[in-house]
Amino acid sequence: MRKGEILSIIGIFANPQVNPRGEDSNLIILGFESSCDETGVGIYSINQGLISHSLHSQIQLHENYGGVVPELASRDHLKRIINLTKTALSDAKITLDEIDGIAYTRGPGLAGALLVGASVATSIAYTKRIPCAGVHHLEGHILSPFINTEKRDFPFLTLLVSGGHTQLIEVKAVGEYLLLGDTRDDAAGEAFDKTAKLLGLPYPGGAKLSELAKNGSGQAYEFPRPMLDQDNLDFSFSGLKTAVVNLVNKSSEERKTLSETNRADIAASFEDAITDVLVSKSLKALRTKHLKRLVVSGGVGANSALRKKLDQASENEDFETLYPPIEFCTDNGAMIALLGAEKIKNGVLGPAPFDIKPRWPLTQ
Ligand code: KG4
Ligand code: ZN
Repeated sequence: MRKGEILSIIGIFANPQVNPRGEDSNLIILGFESSCDETGVGIYSINQGLISHSLHSQIQLHENYGGVVPELASRDHLKRIINLTKTALSDAKITLDEIDGIAYTRGPGLAGALLVGASVATSIAYTKRIPCAGVHHLEGHILSPFINTEKRDFPFLTLLVSGGHTQLIEVKAVGEYLLLGDTRDDAAGEAFDKTAKLLGLPYPGGAKLSELAKNGSGQAYEFPRPMLDQDNLDFSFSGLKTAVVNLVNKSSEERKTLSETNRADIAASFEDAITDVLVSKSLKALRTKHLKRLVVSGGVGANSALRKKLDQASENEDFETLYPPIEFCTDNGAMIALLGAEKIKNGVLGPAPFDIKPRWPLTQ
């Protein structure tokens, strides 16, 4: 590529036509998610909401390794992303020429995986001469409950519970976030996955552990509820995980095989403990900040025990709890397209594209 060509790319992105059809017209945004082990493509219209989305999960690919293998993840994103884009476009019954802007997950996430979404997004934006926004993955999760609804009442509290994050965030408006509490060690999803692994369940074990827990008793084992008594909104789950490790190790030292009932009881008692902590800290944050609305986002937001406890608490304490539809709790392209639509509508594109940020705190 010659120097002039590089400059022309920079020129386009420095002066993108933010709303090529004019202020009041509809905008249709194509969004790409490739931060970890899901390749997601979404098409979101300002006027019609989500038009289509396509998704491929790499769970089977990584299952044998007990966790995500970054190099395999990047290669698989590369293999899938174009076909998923074609599927999303054909489901939406539109062509690339009808897309007004592009969004992609800029971070946080795995560098190689992020680069795949960034490359495809910026290439399309360049060839079609449309704006491109690199957006924050966690902000996508925060807005995911709005994928299928026009109702957006600010402010609210977000409980963001994913494989990499456990945070309580006060959301004052789109783009205005105040971090109230964070995990000091393991994220909730990570604690679910590690405990599931101890119980012999394949990766990622969160949903499978929850299924197993349905056959057990939450009162069978008394696991710790870390940091519940402390006067802050932070979390810590490593002690809870260690309690399960000790229990499992003790039984293997005693050469006892855990029965199916034991395993289900451990799963249920673990789930009871971790959801107690998540609910209790969320209630504390709602009270402290005088908020009346709680939005639950991220993969662990699909957990039925957590939902049941929060619904019960909502009734008792007079606040509203909103969840994204289950299919949008885990990573997806729809939330990135929605977030991109917000950014592009308001002309907030961030730095010049083809930029990724594997480590990127939400509050920056
Ligand atoms: O938000 P997400 O798809 O990816 C990240 O950005 O991390 O969350 C994935 C996490 C995994 O740890 C997975 O085990 C957990 O969400 N998860 C669940 C459930 N479904 C997914 N954890 C508990 N119960 C579930 N039903
Ligand atoms: Zn996520």
